[in-house]
Amino acid sequence: MNYVILAHETDFDGWRQAARTLVLDGVRPEDVTWSVKGDKELFAPADAASPSRLPAGTFNVPARFIELARIAILHRDRERFALLYRLLWRLRGDHDLLDVATDPDVISITAMAKAVRRDEHKMHAFVRFREIGREREARYVAWFEPEHHIVGLAAPFFARRFADMPWSILTPDLCAHWDGFAVSFTPGVGKAEAPSSDRLEETWRRYYATIFNPARLKVKAMQTEMPKKYWRNLPEASMIKPLIAGAAHSADAMIANAATEPHKAQRRLEEPMRRKTATAADNLETLREEAAGCRACPLWKDATQTVFGEGPSHAPIMLVGEQPGDKEDLAGKPFVGPAGQMLDGALIEAGIERKQVYVTNAVKHFKFVPRGKIRLHQKPSTAEIKACRPWYEREKAAIKPVLVVAMGATAAQGVLGRITPINKNRGHLIDLDDKTKALVTVHPSYLLRLPDADAKAREYERFVDDLKMAAAFLRKSARAA
Ligand code: URA
Repeated sequence: MNYVILAHETDFDGWRQAARTLVLDGVRPEDVTWSVKGDKELFAPADAASPSRLPAGTFNVPARFIELARIAILHRDRERFALLYRLLWRLRGDHDLLDVATDPDVISITAMAKAVRRDEHKMHAFVRFREIGREREARYVAWFEPEHHIVGLAAPFFARRFADMPWSILTPDLCAHWDGFAVSFTPGVGKAEAPSSDRLEETWRRYYATIFNPARLKVKAMQTEMPKKYWRNLPEASMIKPLIAGAAHSADAMIANAATEPHKAQRRLEEPMRRKTATAADNLETLREEAAGCRACPLWKDATQTVFGEGPSHAPIMLVGEQPGDKEDLAGKPFVGPAGQMLDGALIEAGIERKQVYVTNAVKHFKFVPRGKIRLHQKPSTAEIKACRPWYEREKAAIKPVLVVAMGATAAQGVLGRITPINKNRGHLIDLDDKTKALVTVHPSYLLRLPDADAKAREYERFVDDLKMAAAFLRKSARAA
């Protein structure tokens, strides 16, 4: 019997060298026992040594096999090394063996590689970082229990995705660490080493509750995508059962509400609105009444009502969104629907109380197209943004905020009076003509629409950071006053 003892569970190079030596020496698969150093079930005698000398000679195997082997070797099945060697042995005589989809060895190796890839994908989706320390000292640590030996395979994804935050992913097999420059690995640890909860936890739960759509619930499909074994490490898992339990009721309520039927009744002014320019003499209540009859663009015709801004009459910050959505149109209040919930959570995290800020929209009527019972949001045109701008200017002149936060491209266009790309302009204060400042950031609905959970979490944090910048500016101006 030939014994091969690999250096560790994912020692592909060690396997490759030993396999090449054994093939060239003509050692049949049934005459080799494979194990890993430190293996509790090591069958090798104490003096067993892996083949170290490379015999003369060469042989070719398809590049496809090498690719498959690199992935399949990460499977936890102890038989993988022997299976790979058997395939290698057979491939010398049958170069097209991998094309034989009914061959048991080919079936096994393909299934192993597939399971590894699936586990890698799950790790990408279900790692949840918890923050340890604050501000500059912050480090993000996650606990994950992979099914296979995939930490090394999955780590580059996290290094790319979370390049500017130092993180560690702890697992029972191996831990990966990123310091902003390189990934390093240390031996696995127990779950007790991982942080159990932090302030990001609540963000995940709130976010999950926001995106959960009871009308689209398919429990089986959901459990396939997010198998129960991952739940114990997901902060949002505590929401799953109550949300599923309440789903039927919530979906019934959604249907019964038929809330999105366009309303015809709208209070209209007999006279078309007289356009005014901003004056400090406007008071918010008279402005609101005047705006209720606005006909400056055709959007008033289908909307339920003008949704005017809301908040203290001398708020230091004015938050500007795009236009009311379905819920806001019916309630007559800005940001009360899903985007509003997202905004509320982010404001809390940034240390801003919603009741201290004035919240409004660049366009004050809901623009939509009807689709059955649903009213589908439509982006306002430049003409509509321009037509509505006097309201924003007059609100601002009445409130006199020190800072205007424009959320999304429409708001930025309304506030700055020109098309303003968000990514190029976010992250710094912009001087406005009247000596106040503006800050542009994304719209909370953008966060709701992102299809990828990691991207959502990351973008949400960036949004909170932008709001924190607003809070810091406010503190500074309060001190200077
Ligand atoms: N989106 C907005 O821009 N404003 C709202 O009030 C609601 C959703």
